[in-house]
Amino acid sequence: MAQPTGDILIVDDERSMREFLAIHLRRAGHRVEAAPGGNAALATMKEREFDVIITDLRMPDVDGMVVLEQAKKLHSDTQVIVVTAFATTETAIAAMKAGAYDYLTKPFKIDEVSLVVDRALERRFLGRENLALRDEIKGRYRLDRLLGKSPPMQRVFDTLRKTGPGRASVLLIGESGTGKELAARALHELSQRADRPFVAVNCGAIPETLLESELFGHVKGSFTGAYADKQGLFEAAHTGTLLLDEVAELPVAMQVKLLRVLQERKVKPVGGVVEREVDVRIVAATNRDLETEVEKGTFRQDLFYRLDVIRLRLPPLRERREDLPLLVDHFLRKFAAEHGRQVASVDPEAMQALMAYHFPGNVRELENLIERAVILTASDRLTIDAFPSLGGLAVAAPSLTSAPLVPESGLDLERVVEDFERSIIISALERTGGNRTEAARLLGVSFRSLRYRLSKLGITGADVAGEAGDKTPPPAEG
Ligand SMILES: Nc1ncnc2c1ncn2[C@@H]1O[C@H](COP(=O)(O)OP(=O)(O)OP(=O)(O)O)[C@@H](O)[C@H]1O
Ligand SMILES: [Mg+2]
Repeated sequence: MAQPTGDILIVDDERSMREFLAIHLRRAGHRVEAAPGGNAALATMKEREFDVIITDLRMPDVDGMVVLEQAKKLHSDTQVIVVTAFATTETAIAAMKAGAYDYLTKPFKIDEVSLVVDRALERRFLGRENLALRDEIKGRYRLDRLLGKSPPMQRVFDTLRKTGPGRASVLLIGESGTGKELAARALHELSQRADRPFVAVNCGAIPETLLESELFGHVKGSFTGAYADKQGLFEAAHTGTLLLDEVAELPVAMQVKLLRVLQERKVKPVGGVVEREVDVRIVAATNRDLETEVEKGTFRQDLFYRLDVIRLRLPPLRERREDLPLLVDHFLRKFAAEHGRQVASVDPEAMQALMAYHFPGNVRELENLIERAVILTASDRLTIDAFPSLGGLAVAAPSLTSAPLVPESGLDLERVVEDFERSIIISALERTGGNRTEAARLLGVSFRSLRYRLSKLGITGADVAGEAGDKTPPPAEG
């Protein structure tokens, strides 16, 4: 389907950013005009109407919030997208509340811009009425219980929507905590089986000796302890969906039996003679590389092909940092309500630390971090102190190698490296309560080297959170 094209105004004081967006959007067929600042934008907007305005929020003359307000006043249908630095998502949320259609956090990738612009144009041309921020985000960035704004998650949603209604087996792969179980539930909810049972079985958690009876049931007296007939999980899931979680953990002997059931669509309980028909949709999930397991001979190839009809990969959180604000906001509200707290926001510094963290435990780890922080914090705002496990070099560094940090428009390497160095040093100082000798040790540099860097980067006590406060001891040496 062809995407709609439109009249777009780009407002940014930074020339490279204007050019980067203009070149790309023109290539996509849009008619583009650019304004080098807020004042220029206001003048242009009075002359003609735009479908979409993309404006930086922080500009020296007139800021993006004013551009947004004026745009909405002049033509309430114009869709405004605001651009912010990633640490200031609160301003982005404020802009959404003031009527912005969406926000982009720097550095962003070009396919993210395309996605947001296309949707903004669709919205403009459909002329839909304004919905509240939460409902809006819910609709576009949510599928069942899965949240995601990033292009990779939007692609996951597309696949789920397309394959949900069918009966084909789906293989979900992804690291621990990426939402495989939620995706399986979404598939079920999207199918005609939604009002039928959804049964999840963790293949790794059931002892081998019990697995067959758990899956297929048993008849009374078939083995010691089988005091009565028992229905297996396959039958429990009859007419519904069965999630075979951690499917790579299945012992090979069980793999053979499972394959037979999938082929014949019949189960025979342990100790029984009659086979019973079962109609289940199979969804399998794993965080292992099944192809490698097949090569090693620990997973049967024929079963693999049975399960791998439609394959869906859940991307790790570090590959989609733009989902963080949405998820943080979601978990914040969830746990604040659950624990009866008034915590309403995350301060920019803490947000930045979350953005830089590489999340080996993915969304589950984020969820745990937020819950802990909500419980432990005394104020209505989560600061960096609420996340004691973040902020060190050990957690910040891997994100550098895993995240594509260079936007197509390029960047100023020296400045970026300096900023990074500054934030690492500051976080080391915060970790040591301002003690420079300790901080130097943590960073593996000499005291002299640290002192040199502090003066080169102009870091003073005021930059270090807590140093001016009351609870941290003063620096050990002056
Ligand atoms: N996209 C998402 N939006 C909202 N919540 C999510 C998302 N992804 C995961 N979660 C939450 O994170 C936690 C882990 O998700 P889930 O159990 O689906 O992961 P998983 O991939 O099955 O992990 P594992 O391999 O460890 O079993 C759950 O509490 C889930 O609600
Ligand atoms: Mg799981």
